[in-house]
Amino acid sequence: MSENVRVLLTEEEVDERIRRLGEQISRDYAGKSIHMICVLKGGSFFMCELAKRITVPVSLDFMSVSSYGGGTESSGQIKIIKDLDESIEGKNVLVVEDIIDSGRTLSHLLKLLASRHPESLSLCTLLDKPDRRVVDVDVDYTGFEVEDLFVVGYGLDYDQKYRNLPYVGVVEFEE
Ligand code: IMP
Ligand code: MG
Repeated sequence: MSENVRVLLTEEEVDERIRRLGEQISRDYAGKSIHMICVLKGGSFFMCELAKRITVPVSLDFMSVSSYGGGTESSGQIKIIKDLDESIEGKNVLVVEDIIDSGRTLSHLLKLLASRHPESLSLCTLLDKPDRRVVDVDVDYTGFEVEDLFVVGYGLDYDQKYRNLPYVGVVEFEE
């Protein structure tokens, strides 16, 4: 069986949307600074591009949690693989994710972060699959809503492959 990636959102479409998200976030946080938390590894490409488009002061930290195994289904549990380097107490935290699917990962993570007393806690995701939601999650900023398809690129992987694609695509399997 061979795999083929069909383009869903072009590089230009994604870049333009990120630019507009950056403008919106900069306006919303005018006069404040933002502590961006990237959920590794998927959120890393999006976070870098978004951070470049934000005009208020930004600091960055990274966290790694496991939700998926090698396949395409969420396990329903998260494990902290790498915790934050710095305290988030009193900071305006913006969590940056690649995609929200069932919502399980983010709802766990947001509860954990809220317990550490940030000044504010918001969520920005490049992609959202609302039809797949199992657990309610408040999303403050969404790049694109996508159908119930398994997408790759712009940080998203299938078995660790395709993260480096500069666009968002759908993996199709052929005999
Ligand atoms: P959730 O807990 O089901 O919301 O899963 C969220 C995580 O699963 C995301 O951060 C991704 O790492 C991964 N994920 C969900 N859907 C996809 C997809 O379509 N392609 C690649 N990874 C996905
Ligand atoms: Mg992720």
